[in-house]
Formats: sequence, structure tokens, C-alpha cells
Amino acid sequence: MNDAMWIIVPAAGRGERMGSDIPKQYVMLGEQCMLQHTLSRLLPVPDVDGIVVTLSENDDHWPMVEAGADERVHTTIGGATRADSVLAGLRYVLDRAAPSSWVLVHDAARPLVSLSDIRRLVDTVYNSGAIGGILATPVQDTLKSADEYCCIECTVSRNQLWQAQTPQMFRAGELLEALETSRHGEVSGIPVTDESSAMENLGHEPQLVEALQPNLKVTRPADLLVARLLLTHFADQT
Ligand code: CTP
Ligand code: MG
Repeated sequence: MNDAMWIIVPAAGRGERMGSDIPKQYVMLGEQCMLQHTLSRLLPVPDVDGIVVTLSENDDHWPMVEAGADERVHTTIGGATRADSVLAGLRYVLDRAAPSSWVLVHDAARPLVSLSDIRRLVDTVYNSGAIGGILATPVQDTLKSADEYCCIECTVSRNQLWQAQTPQMFRAGELLEALETSRHGEVSGIPVTDESSAMENLGHEPQLVEALQPNLKVTRPADLLVARLLLTHFADQT
């Protein structure tokens, strides 16, 4: 019997780069809003005890999210940064589950994530004995390092470089310790913007699991067009 498993969905952002009238997680993608799409991808994950969605304090859009009616879906209030929102979700989980419970942190802004990729992440972490793991894709473009005037200084090898995605899967107690230690900190001069970097900060080596299906983070207006097209194409994708 495996330990309990919870999912935390940070959804307390304002979507400033999107610049829409409402927070981007509530923008419609076809007939459903982004957060509904995201939750409908997460609800079929096997053996999930609960999903905690962290909302901003003045959120009045959440009632339109149908998945909120599922008894496994809980809400709590998030914080000023993504890390604060994840911490709020983690504390909610730790009030109800053991520190050894697994948590999968998944951005509300990634509505395309596939069940098959999540299952491979979970299976890989269980079978590898790793401290935890994350979905990611190998970097495909040629990388340039530039100065402040955008003049190229050199080409950076993309060998062994990956783009981190979510879900990111760790044990609740260990992730709490890592996030609290890393608050507003850096790993090798790079700000801690995901759960994995907080764990790396403590010397851990999380497992990368390649995402084989699209898992776009919807950030800017053009991403909405792509997400709408992909959601049409991958409507029944598992
Ligand atoms: N998030 C959160 N709490 C915050 C900031 C972000 O829960 N204080 C969530 C967002 O809702 C999103 C995820 O973290 O689901 C990833 O963040 P990002 O894509 O940066 O979303 P926003 O912060 O909303 O967008 P922006 O940075 O453009 O304002
Ligand atoms: Mg942000």
C-alpha cells in the first residue's frame, strides 16, 4: 500500500503577462475555463486522496468551476507569490495527511497535461526510489548567452538541459522543509521558482521524467490560441 497522495494546484495568480480582464485561469478555452480543464485532467489520476486549489483572497470566479463540486476538491487561500501559494496548499495537506504523503504540485496554467505523462511521473518516482521527480522536456532550440544589450556572447550547449514543467512530485514533509528553507532564496544565483529547485537547494537530486504530450504553460495572449487548438485536438487525450 503506497502512502497517501494529494495534488496542489496553485491558482492564486493574477496573470499579469496575459493582461486579460479576469485572472488567466478563468479565461475560457472552448466551453470551459482554463482551471476547469486543468482539474478535469487531474481528477482521473488514480489513488488521489484530495486536490487542494489555492485561490486568491478576492476570487469570485471559483464558483463557476464545475470540478469544485467534486468532494475530493478542496480550496484554501494562496499567497503573494507562487511559492507562498504552494506553501499554503502544503500546510492544508499536512493538516490532514502524514508528512510522508506524496504531493503533486501542478500549475492551474497548464491545462493540457496528459494523464499518461502524470502516470509515468508517479510510476517512475515510485520505482526509482528518487526523492521526487518532475515532468520536463529536453531543450530543443539553440541557446545563446547575451549581454544586457542583447549582443550574443556565446552559444550555450543544450546537452543535458531540460525545461521544467509541472506536476512536480515530492513528499509533503520534505517539500515543506525545502520551501521554507528556500523562501526568497536562490539556487546557484537563480531564484527558486519551482519545487524542484527548493529540493535541489537542500542537496537532493530529483528525477526528470520526459513529458511526451504537450504541456504548455499558458502565459501570454498568443498561448491562448495555441491552447485552444491543442485542446480541440487532444480533447480526449489521456
Ligand atoms: N500562482 C499562485 N499564486 C501566486 C502567483 C501564481 O497560485 N501568487 C499560480 C498561478 O495562478 C499559476 C501558477 O502559479 O497557475 C504559475 O504562475 P504563472 O504562470 O506565473 O501565473 P501568474 O503569476 O498568474 O501570471 P503572471 O506571472 O503573468 O502574473
Ligand atoms: Mg507569475
